[in-house]
Amino acid sequence: MSNINKKIFIKSYGCQMNMYDSSRIKNLFEDKGYLETKDIKKADVVVLNTCHIREKASEKVYSDIGRINKIKKNTENKYKLIISGCVAQAEGEEIKSRAPSVDYIVGPQSYHKLPSMIEEYNDFINDEFLQSEKFTKLIFKTSNKVSEFVTVQEGCDKFCSFCVVPYTRGSEFSRSVKEVEDEIKKYTRNGIKEVILLGQNVNAYHGQNSKGKQVDLAYLINSISEINNIKRIRYMTSHPNDMTDSLINIHGSNTKLMPFLHLPIQSGSDNILKKMNRKHSVKKYYEIVNKLKLSRPDIALSSDFIVGFPGETNDDFDQTMKLIENIKFTIAYSFIYSPRPGTPAFNKNNIDLAVKKARLSALQSLLKEQQSFFNQSFLKKKIEVLFERKGRHQNQFIGRSIYNQSVFTNSKSNLLGKIKKINISRSTNFALEGQL
Ligand code: SAH
Ligand code: SF4
Ligand code: F3S
Repeated sequence: MSNINKKIFIKSYGCQMNMYDSSRIKNLFEDKGYLETKDIKKADVVVLNTCHIREKASEKVYSDIGRINKIKKNTENKYKLIISGCVAQAEGEEIKSRAPSVDYIVGPQSYHKLPSMIEEYNDFINDEFLQSEKFTKLIFKTSNKVSEFVTVQEGCDKFCSFCVVPYTRGSEFSRSVKEVEDEIKKYTRNGIKEVILLGQNVNAYHGQNSKGKQVDLAYLINSISEINNIKRIRYMTSHPNDMTDSLINIHGSNTKLMPFLHLPIQSGSDNILKKMNRKHSVKKYYEIVNKLKLSRPDIALSSDFIVGFPGETNDDFDQTMKLIENIKFTIAYSFIYSPRPGTPAFNKNNIDLAVKKARLSALQSLLKEQQSFFNQSFLKKKIEVLFERKGRHQNQFIGRSIYNQSVFTNSKSNLLGKIKKINISRSTNFALEGQL
């Protein structure tokens, strides 16, 4: 076809699933003959795969469109500009009026239509929710050799009062066990050793097995672990209310399931959790953590926190700090609350920015202290690492420990895709370093 020598440039703005979608969009165009380019000036198709989660992420797209228009003006190249992802879903019409230079707008549940939208000039905007159709039309290729993301569940029915995801990704949808396994088997032919199962609410997974029976995430993980070449399995992101006993139990019984869990709580105050519509209490979170530790005593925990949610008092914030001190997270992500149009909390009284910043800084220093303390506890110990990529220096390799820490080492032989025991000799806030 005439697409030979055509090039696609694609940029991701969001979460791991946003990155996964970017790979799928790239694969769809590769299938039509396109090659990926990192140089926007050489591209025939430019895709901005956007994120709507916080205002900053969302607004960045508009400033990037402005920048890209300037490039387009100053070069011969008249590429097509496509806005995909969660901003496209939430603000399709607004993009069209704010940025007329955009050629196509496509949401996260209909991007499989992209190549034909361009070839047939139909649809300018497509924001349909076509989850099940989408997965049958996607193409799964990996250029990675070690670890891959695999979407197993999408969307969310939880409606936390701050969050856009239920509106941008739609309602909960699970792929079948077979579909997921077929995708993973394709990747293992390229040497993949680890899969990270993705879902906005991954532990709400409820796909069908080969007998048409509805099964849970524990079943899916056990089933994937029978694929010989897969050595490690992780999953994210989980909601406390879907942390079932069967899932907790396999943390103790399935040796391929890594002892690390990202389990966001958002706040340590019941008052705020209620306002956030999280539908669980702090007590429930402690109960889950205790059960997890009984099942897998060394499990490493991580969380997300939002500070400065409308109505958050000093006392509410102190309760969050207390929870962090008690649980001891090995890593965590924290954000200043960002009011999102269309969400129930949007018009609630926003807290003073200075207060939010002070709280964020206090919370982040405590988290950093815990992370650094956790990393230090590995000094002079051996830890199992799967090596994923080459470092900047010659003979340097970077991998992940079973607890998801980055580990650096030097080796003359190629360590990519290998699992090795490393003697840890140095630790920083963010990483470990050691020798074979
Ligand atoms: N499904 C995941 C979260 C997806 S969004 C879950 O249920 O935890 C990733 C993180 O972004 C959230 O955990 C939350 O901490 C943060 N976030 C979401 N909406 C936000 C907002 N309006 N302002 C600030 N942070 C937000
Ligand atoms: Fe958003 Fe809450 Fe759903 Fe997570 S559980 S995606 S925070 S609505
Ligand atoms: Fe962003 Fe959409 Fe992911 S809003 S965080 S890209 S689900």
